[in-house]
Amino acid sequence: MKSFLELAKKRKTTYEFSKKAVPAPALLKILEAGRWSPSSLNAQPWHFIVVKKPETIKAIVRASYYGSFHTAPSAVIAIALEGHASGGKKHRGMLRGEVGHDEAMMSVSMPVLMMALEAEDLGVDACMLSLDEKKLGGLLKLGFRRAPIAIGLGYRELGSTSAGMMHKRKPLSEIVKKERL
Ligand SMILES: Cc1cc2nc3c(=O)[nH]c(=O)nc-3n(C[C@H](O)[C@H](O)[C@H](O)COP(=O)(O)O)c2cc1C
Repeated sequence: MKSFLELAKKRKTTYEFSKKAVPAPALLKILEAGRWSPSSLNAQPWHFIVVKKPETIKAIVRASYYGSFHTAPSAVIAIALEGHASGGKKHRGMLRGEVGHDEAMMSVSMPVLMMALEAEDLGVDACMLSLDEKKLGGLLKLGFRRAPIAIGLGYRELGSTSAGMMHKRKPLSEIVKKERL
């Protein structure tokens, strides 16, 4: 079994996908990992929109900020901000109190990472897509809600060269500061 750190280091964004579909049980496990994400005040201010129609997937990739070099994944899960959090209004937490828009926006990136790590554990490849919501238009029938981010899932095209091309990390010596910046 891989250690967590090995799994985290092995995960890489995939930019070229084959046409192979992600099996339903794997997709369900990935969604389940997303469900267990932490969120501010445990508000869980999200809906997970599962997209499998190739035309819709292509349009979502086109609507991402820098996704033009992606070939389409076989499934996409768009993370929509739940009702009130979308409009910048406060969103009721499950514990107590209310979370503001910033907390809701920070929270929606959690399921993306949880899903990406679960996918890696299952041998499913993934990409993350920040969405230009204006370009999404009415595609996902979001109404007043927002879907700022999505995860694409599938399998890396054999022989593709682009996986991991932006994978380098800054060394700890550069990013860790003692006591103050
Ligand atoms: C919040 C967030 C948004 C991202 N949006 C995009 C995107 O729109 N298009 C894209 O190609 N990659 C996107 N990525 C993927 C990053 O470019 C990628 O994670 C980074 O280059 C590190 O590479 P790695 O995932 O292979 O480790 C996003 C990642 C995060 C965390």
